[in-house]
Amino acid sequence: MAEKDYILKVDDLKTEFKVGKRVVHAVNGVSFNVERGKILCIVGESGCGKSQTVHSILQLLAENGYIAGGSVEYFKKGANKPQVLSSYSRNSKKIRAIRGKEIAMIFQDPMSTLNPVYTVGRQIMEMLLKHERISKKEAKARIMQLLNDLEIPTPEVRYDQYPHEFSGGMKQRIMVAIAMICNPDILIADEPTTALDVTIQAQILDLIRKMQQEHGTSVIFITHNMGVVAEIADDVAVMYMGRIVEQGTVKQVFTNPQHPYTKALMRSVPVMGMDKARALDTIEGTTPDASTVFHGCEFADRCTYATEACFNRFPIDTIIEDGHRVRCLLFEEGEQNAE
Ligand SMILES: Nc1ncnc2c1ncn2[C@@H]1O[C@H](COP(=O)(O)OP(=O)(O)OP(=O)(O)O)[C@@H](O)[C@H]1O
Ligand SMILES: [Mg+2]
Repeated sequence: MAEKDYILKVDDLKTEFKVGKRVVHAVNGVSFNVERGKILCIVGESGCGKSQTVHSILQLLAENGYIAGGSVEYFKKGANKPQVLSSYSRNSKKIRAIRGKEIAMIFQDPMSTLNPVYTVGRQIMEMLLKHERISKKEAKARIMQLLNDLEIPTPEVRYDQYPHEFSGGMKQRIMVAIAMICNPDILIADEPTTALDVTIQAQILDLIRKMQQEHGTSVIFITHNMGVVAEIADDVAVMYMGRIVEQGTVKQVFTNPQHPYTKALMRSVPVMGMDKARALDTIEGTTPDASTVFHGCEFADRCTYATEACFNRFPIDTIIEDGHRVRCLLFEEGEQNAE
């Protein structure tokens, strides 16, 4: 099989936070690749490390956070070698040239991006002029075009309005506009739809997919909802407690889920075509505190299949088939016969 064309390779990424004397291992050896032009979804419950994984990619960690190991490589089209983003410091010129221009992010909280005291037009304009040498007139024309593409009604009126004059869904569209205005190679969308009602969620998903298809943008889309994954993803990575426990194409993971956590996640959300009358299961137990020290699988405590070995040994990735891998002792060769 031909080698796939990857735009981003994350290898054994470890991200930590210092909190007093404690160290929080928010991202604990995460590896995944993003295929050029495709949508990768990262899915998992609150606190599993989704946001910190993508913040690490762009060196956007809080002051007490740092990358403790691993690498992030960005393969710009036509370049003969990758840019190792994990080696750039957080305020370096190199990473600032990439943020917003080559790799853009829609943040979980729109108000962390939108400044309440400036009009939205000015904010989109600033992003564009920061990265491209064009006249204000050209910039304005491009913004109007984009606002039109994003189906924002009366864009010329909207351009001069302030964030508080926008509804949640419209604010989210403005976030998409700020992220897309420089035509980035990679769009990272961190739960852009969670706070929105279902109809508006579906519209935002459509917009992101439209952008991906029309511009060939590669996308990392974060969600805790398997239904959204089914809607939008080409590939999926399931995270639990700072680790990826299963990954594969959306088809592999949905038709043949392996990890007990993936299976539980699938049962806990409505998935397309599911019988609406069926009550939704919730996953028993809660995610342990991020500073818990483990000697074995982090999910063992909540797992109906866990054996004693699961509490005492870290699982390693097992390949189910090409591109589909799972981190669970149940699948490690010889495990059934062990002890
Ligand atoms: N600045 C910080 N200092 C200490 N711990 C932090 C910091 N930022 C994040 N964490 C911890 O890192 C872990 C992963 O957080 P992260 O924000 O990546 O979760 P998430 O998967 O995005 O969750 P959510 O779905 O709620 O957004 C959590 O346990 C969180 O408390
Ligand atoms: Mg998050």
